[in-house]
Amino acid sequence: MPILGLNIDHVATLREARYRDWKSGLAPEPSVIEAARVAEHAGVASITVHLREDRRHIQEADVRLISREISIPLNLEMAATAAMTRQALRFKPEEVCLVPENRQEVTTEGGLEVASDIARLKTVVQKLTRAKIKVSAFIDADLKQVDAAHRIGAQVVELHTGVYANATTIKARNKELARHGRAAAHAHELGLRVNAGHGLHYGNVREYIEDVPHLHTLNIGHSIISRAVFVGLHQAVREMMTLIRSQQPSPNAD
Ligand code: PXP
Repeated sequence: MPILGLNIDHVATLREARYRDWKSGLAPEPSVIEAARVAEHAGVASITVHLREDRRHIQEADVRLISREISIPLNLEMAATAAMTRQALRFKPEEVCLVPENRQEVTTEGGLEVASDIARLKTVVQKLTRAKIKVSAFIDADLKQVDAAHRIGAQVVELHTGVYANATTIKARNKELARHGRAAAHAHELGLRVNAGHGLHYGNVREYIEDVPHLHTLNIGHSIISRAVFVGLHQAVREMMTLIRSQQPSPNAD
């Protein structure tokens, strides 16, 4: 049974909608560190933040604070650039997830093209691995990309579930589930840890878990933060954990 990692980027999105100059001394809300604390208390296994090059939501100060004050692992999503690698080496998160980045996109639209960029990505992975940071590659569920992630020395692949989440017919969804099943099995055979995320929500997560083997962590953000608007973050997290586990939440996390 996979564990849940919570992506809290959209707590920062809401903050930035009002407090773009929050470094000015105002107390901006909602607080990203508070969100991380609530999520930790609710029982998530890790916190994910994406430090985008355009800093549209998460800021360096958020990453610094979370890495200092949260005891569960921090998974830092970032573009595989020299500048971001330097930042990661300063923050020393437990895990870095390399993602493609395009300033125009609303959210990460596809997996990282690893297969055609092996030499450059291998260098980035080596630098991070030397600093004892586990590296994950966010890839499409494609055997060629799984092989490439293994070649660059990543220890983890995160399978991009966006196409599955956006499929509008049962046939298209089943095709995606089969593709993810093959990619996950292949990654596992190569000794890679298998994570998944993007577009997973309360209505599609069970089917994904049931069909795709070897899942370690599901990284989910938007749907949990959206649900939190109505029921609070603690409950939104617990509801997702209950779905993932398909059993009652353990009482000692409350
Ligand atoms: N994993 C990765 C690599 C992502 O880029 C994102 C989106 O920022 C997620 C997981 C979470 O996606 P969502 O917000 O759709 O749950």
